[in-house]
Amino acid sequence: MKIESLQDLFEIELRYVYDCEQKLVKKGLPTMIEAASSPELRSALEQHLEETRNQVARLERVFSTLGADAKTEGNDILDELNSCVKDMISDIDASPLRDAALIVGGNKVEHYEMAAYGSLVAFAQQLGFEDAVQLLEQTLEEEKAADAKLTQIGETVINPRAGQEPRAA
Ligand SMILES: [Fe+2]
Repeated sequence: MKIESLQDLFEIELRYVYDCEQKLVKKGLPTMIEAASSPELRSALEQHLEETRNQVARLERVFSTLGADAKTEGNDILDELNSCVKDMISDIDASPLRDAALIVGGNKVEHYEMAAYGSLVAFAQQLGFEDAVQLLEQTLEEEKAADAKLTQIGETVINPRAGQEPRAA
């Protein structure tokens, strides 16, 4: 698609996050939940999976407020982030250390999403799409909270345990 206006850019970026959220619901988050050992991490990821299902529906509302079809654009960045998480899971046995790696992966995804939604909110404001601003801001806040929650679990629960594991000889 040729991008010739701020609205075009807004719509294409919406399609990238729509692809991102769908992939997280289908594969990314369930894979992380299955690989996590600590109940705290598991439940934070499960909660974010629920939120992410909602975010997919919210994006569909954004597309409809624009009178645009909800379409995806292949999100290679998310594919790469998910594949890094998969590598970590296969390289580290189930343990606090693996949980620490899952948190790094989760934080990277949340920061990517915060960057994307931050720009989408700004574009929607500039374009005068008030309903879209509100919807996208809700998701941006959820991504920030999910990021902070992962960091908090890492620093208070996971990292202290991971740091106690003896290094392999
Ligand atoms: Fe999300």
